[in-house]
Amino acid sequence: MSGEERRHPAAFPLDDRAIYDAYVAGRQSAALTVGVRVGLFDKLDQTPLDVQTIADEFDFSLRGARSLLVALEAMGVVTCEEGLYGLSPEAAAYAVHGRSGSLVSLIELEMDHFLSPVALLEALKKDSSTAYGDADPWEEHERDPEAAARFTAAMHSVSERPAAGFAEVAPLEGIERLLDVGGGSGALCLASASAHPDLSCTVWDLQVVCDLAEKYADEAGLSEQVRTLAGDMWNEPFPDGHDAVLLSQILHDWSHEQGGVLLDKAFACLPSGGRVLIHEKIVDEEGGPLANALVNLDMLVWTKGQQYTAAELKGLLVAAGFEGVQCEPTAGYWSVVWASKP
Ligand SMILES: C[S@@+](CC[C@H](N)C(=O)[O-])C[C@H]1O[C@@H](n2cnc3c(N)ncnc32)[C@H](O)[C@@H]1O
Repeated sequence: MSGEERRHPAAFPLDDRAIYDAYVAGRQSAALTVGVRVGLFDKLDQTPLDVQTIADEFDFSLRGARSLLVALEAMGVVTCEEGLYGLSPEAAAYAVHGRSGSLVSLIELEMDHFLSPVALLEALKKDSSTAYGDADPWEEHERDPEAAARFTAAMHSVSERPAAGFAEVAPLEGIERLLDVGGGSGALCLASASAHPDLSCTVWDLQVVCDLAEKYADEAGLSEQVRTLAGDMWNEPFPDGHDAVLLSQILHDWSHEQGGVLLDKAFACLPSGGRVLIHEKIVDEEGGPLANALVNLDMLVWTKGQQYTAAELKGLLVAAGFEGVQCEPTAGYWSVVWASKP
């Protein structure tokens, strides 16, 4: 009998690991988030350390430090050579503060908004955002600029790398003025502007977010090319004077019907030949990839929306009057879907 066959007792021949692995997966998020929050990965990025030094440095028990490091090593986040812990190349690129494309601000949001079974059950029954209790998240951001800054940093964190892919793949040639609806930090505009020096971009978002986007543009040295405009996409027409409209992670925040309203507004503000670009983590017809399917649960807790298939987006675009719908992957789990106004 082979080693693999020995894992399956005669009384329980069906492998239980698909279910067990799903059960245990939340620990990975907890371990990664703690590592980010305490600055463990920042420290290991500077120099490899042994477990006792790590325990002393972060005021962990020795048993605690060992448990965390063993888990992080099995996850491929840290490496261990001759008793010294260092970072995997992926952790060095995406789990260290201050690094372009780093996911730390997204991961840190887990500290306050971890999707626990209790939170999920509440959201499933309520069918409206529970992330800030009963408050609408966007109204809460207008009321609390620090919450807006944390959320916008998380969005910047998740968007920076795919934005670079978007700038390479999206059909931006010939476009002079891009309107980024709900543009957040302006991550997509910054990547697009730096890849296309003749492109002017407008980040259109709530005032509290525009104030933040201006800082991101300043830091990137792109404030001439990437400007902000405060507004409300529900209560105002989309500003005109643009030949392309971008909706990145916007449609997935609202219902299909509300998405249709936004696409009607995009259609109305564009000239003939103008382009609409949708940037999302698309779910395929089989319901995968897993990471994109799971975002549906985040949308449930944070928004009124859900993830889309390419066919669903095509249906919304055609219903709004657009034609020539195309879809291409941009980076990682992300894709861009675009179409033109006849
Ligand atoms: C999920 S974030 C996407 C940010 C950015 N597009 C990206 O992909 O990184 C949604 C954005 O929509 C903005 N937003 C929400 N309600 C809005 C409104 N009524 N008018 C304009 N922007 C709004 C939020 O402030 C936030 O920046």
